[in-house]
Amino acid sequence: MIKAAIMGYGTIGSGVMEVLNINQNGIAKRVGEGIEVKYILDLRDFPGDPIQEKIVHDYKTIVEDAEVKIVVETMGGVEPAYTFVKAMLEAGKHVTTSNKALVAAKGAELIALAEEKQVNFMFEASVGGGIPIIRPLNSCLTADEIEEITGIVNGTTNYMLTKMAEDNADFEDVLKDAQAKGYAEKDPTADIEGYDACRKIAILTSLVCGQQVDFEDIHTEGITKITAADIKYAKAMGRKIKLLASSKKVGDGYAAMVAPYLLPKTHPLYNVNGVFNAIFVHGNVLGDAMFYGSGAGKLPTASAVVADIVEMAKHMDKNIKVEWSSQKLKLADYKAISNQFFVRVSAEDKTAVENVFGAVSYVDAGESGELGFVTEKLTEAEFEKKASELGNVIQSIRFA
Ligand code: HSE
Repeated sequence: MIKAAIMGYGTIGSGVMEVLNINQNGIAKRVGEGIEVKYILDLRDFPGDPIQEKIVHDYKTIVEDAEVKIVVETMGGVEPAYTFVKAMLEAGKHVTTSNKALVAAKGAELIALAEEKQVNFMFEASVGGGIPIIRPLNSCLTADEIEEITGIVNGTTNYMLTKMAEDNADFEDVLKDAQAKGYAEKDPTADIEGYDACRKIAILTSLVCGQQVDFEDIHTEGITKITAADIKYAKAMGRKIKLLASSKKVGDGYAAMVAPYLLPKTHPLYNVNGVFNAIFVHGNVLGDAMFYGSGAGKLPTASAVVADIVEMAKHMDKNIKVEWSSQKLKLADYKAISNQFFVRVSAEDKTAVENVFGAVSYVDAGESGELGFVTEKLTEAEFEKKASELGNVIQSIRFA
């Protein structure tokens, strides 16, 4: 039996226990021996629960037990997860985490520490929940220069945008519905402001370029300004609004951004609805590839964590190299990226619009007292300048 420990017995941590139980035999067959969870670290006790006997409150109990070879971190947040994970790696234990905040902030350092100690630090569940994307990028797509990686990587906002389109509903009503269904948290800021997606694209970009991409450097817009009127315009154009997290090769570097986009029916991510996630990858020799599935939730996310456990159990004495150095990658300025923009202005003066933006295509969604139009391709910087010159801009959304 290989002994393991779980740090954090919330939704994902308890899901890991469940997956290890449900698929016990298959997992043991793949590994060559069984996986036994010896400790569960949590602040709480779970009286009456069969796992109560495994509960410990001090992470040092796990650090100091040489029998424990694999540790799962499903606590969330950077601290104390970082301190605990670092201590586990230093003690020569393999670690897998589902914690995107930890991986985005400390990934390079923890990967280097794992290599030094000849153990593994894995994080398949940190992006796209149950969708395999980290291992494909690290192991399968290594013949390619990845030129683009664009994903719907946040299930909460994708559910909300899908619901707004289906029910012609406004943002606030859909947020309440998402909270009632347990998709959105009580404090939904990280999801709706795009911060969660930002950390995920920072992780993916770091893996693609092999260097540290700081999430703070990524221009991020959430979905809080999207209204029912915007959805009406999107429908009039035959498009859908989706929150995209994107990274594209520009010269020798990458430009990354998180923002709502208007997708045409032909876009590979157009049909990704509800809580589903999908990640589109374009490699210079591979061409296009898509990874689609359950991007969140207890068992799908736990499935990815347990897959890491299996991978680590099969490589107990070997560090699987991950290309992600702590050398910082300076992202290209997003203001140089070109797009067409859909714009709404609170005036009906077409001459004023055309004096500033030149030839535009107008969109009629039956909204009175305003104009909706689509610009030619402009850089972000050019658009910003023209929008402030025109004034009265009540919304702008990029075309994908
Ligand atoms: N809040 C995240 C989402 C959970 O909605 O996608 C998975 O990271």
